[in-house]
Amino acid sequence: MKHLAIIALVLSSFVAQAQEIPVFSRKTPTLKELVPFRLGVAVSTPQVEALGSGSRKEKLIARHFNQVVAENCMKSFALQPREGEFHFDEADKFVDWARANNLAVVGHVLVWHSQLPVWFAKNADGSLCSRETLLARMENHIKTVVAHFKGRVYAWDVVNEAIEADGSYRRNDFFKILGEEYIDAAFKFANEADPDIQLWYNDYGNESAAKNATIAALVRRLKDSGLRIDGVGLQTHVRIDEPSVDAYEDAIKTISAEGVKLAITELDVSVLPAAWNLSAEISSRAAYDAKFNPWPEGRLPDDVNGRLGERYRELFLLFRRYSSIIERVTFWGLSDGDSWLNDFPMAGRTDYPLLFDRSLRLKPWARRALAGQKLRDR
Ligand code: G3I
Repeated sequence: MKHLAIIALVLSSFVAQAQEIPVFSRKTPTLKELVPFRLGVAVSTPQVEALGSGSRKEKLIARHFNQVVAENCMKSFALQPREGEFHFDEADKFVDWARANNLAVVGHVLVWHSQLPVWFAKNADGSLCSRETLLARMENHIKTVVAHFKGRVYAWDVVNEAIEADGSYRRNDFFKILGEEYIDAAFKFANEADPDIQLWYNDYGNESAAKNATIAALVRRLKDSGLRIDGVGLQTHVRIDEPSVDAYEDAIKTISAEGVKLAITELDVSVLPAAWNLSAEISSRAAYDAKFNPWPEGRLPDDVNGRLGERYRELFLLFRRYSSIIERVTFWGLSDGDSWLNDFPMAGRTDYPLLFDRSLRLKPWARRALAGQKLRDR
């Protein structure tokens, strides 16, 4: 009996200790482990410059994501600022760091009217260049760049933002010189440069049914002409209260019906009052006005932060439902302090559009929102 009592005493103290130390302590999942597609992030130029320094941002990117895209350093103005003069140092640094950290790289972007070096579509006197000159320049740029990154970049945004919200083709310099066939030429050159990489069309304003109908028709036309297009990127620069998730679902259905993959390529959710029409058109600008910058201190009120979490949750519920066709979801920046939205269309505002705050703390709702789980009461 006495022995039994001693054994019981020893066991009970063991159980008490065991209750204090959880037996199965499960590791907190990283963000990429919570979603059924690749999870990506855009890396800004200052971040690329700092890669290799072991900064906290660099560690967060490598830990939580499995895909990256350069926010600016692989655009034509950066890679070929003067005709025939290619600069690959910064982009190489970015791509090599990404590969060393098991991050798949998307190339952004081969043909885009913005951040286009002035020489590209112009003669020395500033007039538009000829069809032959533009085609030759496009071929040289696309083939040189794609070949340079062959085997290191798995997908390229071949053409970006060619279509307006009303469904018409944007009248950029490429269009003025070549008509909509500049798009065909870009996809042809990219495929010739590397038949193994994925070729994508990328655009914003994805809630517009008219734009989506034109994108679908473009995909059909390219395919009917024997050209290859693998996917369409929905940039998804959205706001906390618009556009509706239903409009996004319509976009997903309309475009994927053409037999292409989809990706959410530039996701962010602005919480600031709209001072302009809903657009990611970088050429629109407004003068600073404090009434459009309600939370300049870097801290969002709890109720607005909660609504932001709910907005992300409803978006991820949609993306998760279509995970058989959405191959990646990429955030346009790591933390609120990195976002282009702080300076668009008004410089000097304080927006809160991303998953990490300005102190690089993950927002409290982030994991549950990405997992599509009900958010906890705050
Ligand atoms: O590099 C110069 C710097 O030397 C100069 O001192 C500074 C002064 O303004 O400007 C710097 O260039 C800025 C550049 O980003 C690099 O930081 C430009 O002003 C600025 O306009 C440019 O903005 C980028 C924008 O594309 C250009 O069109 C944003 O960072 C970038 O987030 C944004 O990304 C686009 C996607 O490529 C396509 N989809 C829409 C998305 C948001 O507009």
